[in-house]
Amino acid sequence: MSNDIAVRVSGVSHHFGEVGDAHHVRALLDTSLDIARGELLALIGPSGCGKSTLLNVIGGLLEPSTGSVDVGAKRVNGPMPRDIAYVFQENALFPWNTVLDNIKLGMLFQGVPKAEHEDRARQSLKAVGLPEFANHYPGQLSGGMRQRAALARALSLDTPVLLMDEPFGALDEQTRMVLGEDLSILLSRTKKTIVFVTHSLGEAVFLADRVAVFSARPGRIKELISVDEPHPRKPEFVTAPKFTALRNRLYELLHDEIRKSVELSAPAPGAGAH
Ligand SMILES: Nc1ncnc2c1ncn2[C@@H]1O[C@H](COP(=O)(O)OP(=O)(O)OP(=O)(O)O)[C@@H](O)[C@H]1O
Ligand SMILES: [Mg+2]
Repeated sequence: MSNDIAVRVSGVSHHFGEVGDAHHVRALLDTSLDIARGELLALIGPSGCGKSTLLNVIGGLLEPSTGSVDVGAKRVNGPMPRDIAYVFQENALFPWNTVLDNIKLGMLFQGVPKAEHEDRARQSLKAVGLPEFANHYPGQLSGGMRQRAALARALSLDTPVLLMDEPFGALDEQTRMVLGEDLSILLSRTKKTIVFVTHSLGEAVFLADRVAVFSARPGRIKELISVDEPHPRKPEFVTAPKFTALRNRLYELLHDEIRKSVELSAPAPGAGAH
């Protein structure tokens, strides 16, 4: 695999449960994709199309039914805490630990030498703009600050790859925009490879170097759209004609898929009506 490629997804399919089972779900179908080093790839698609499934397969939390994933020179066959960090939609901070201790715990699990914990934790808190909140408890922070703390924890692990599953999904639009700008600055500084799931078309265009648009379940990549704009992206980017055109293109691509997925999950006409 070429050195410029951080993650290679080769022919990955995933189904949950056994074929013939009532609960059998084909979540992801024959997906192949190369993600370049330092690239931010956004995944968008209808609910239930397999975005989180793909992220979990890349992160080694789920074994694919077929196909394989390589991260750097390694074949993924389980979690790889030294190579891959996660940020989830609902931050998974321990409420009984301070922000600083939460970050240190992440490093402890990853096996970072203890002598480095304090420095790395404080550096990553600085990187996300929370240096004064090291000794606060998660419950004393706003939702946006908690997500920043979760991001700081992931950054402190210093992995080349970061997987983010709707990390700002629970936040208000304004906070999301500011966090998006900060993430773009971070990206330009750290050259991390990021896979970022979002339902926000604007967020996808603002952050991504490429956007993978998924089809309705079973998900596969319907189209890859490039966003040719250097990081760090400026707030003004959202008013540029290029931004609007790309956002509209994503909307067009998604619209049909969302309709299909809604029709798939809706009861047949007349069913249940009395
Ligand atoms: N642990 C599981 N067991 C059984 N089925 C699952 C499991 N996880 C996901 N699925 C099914 O796989 C499909 C894809 O789920 P996934 O969570 O990947 O979707 P998604 O694209 O992330 O959706 P959303 O946008 O709503 O987060 C769904 O139909 C879901 O019901
Ligand atoms: Mg999901």
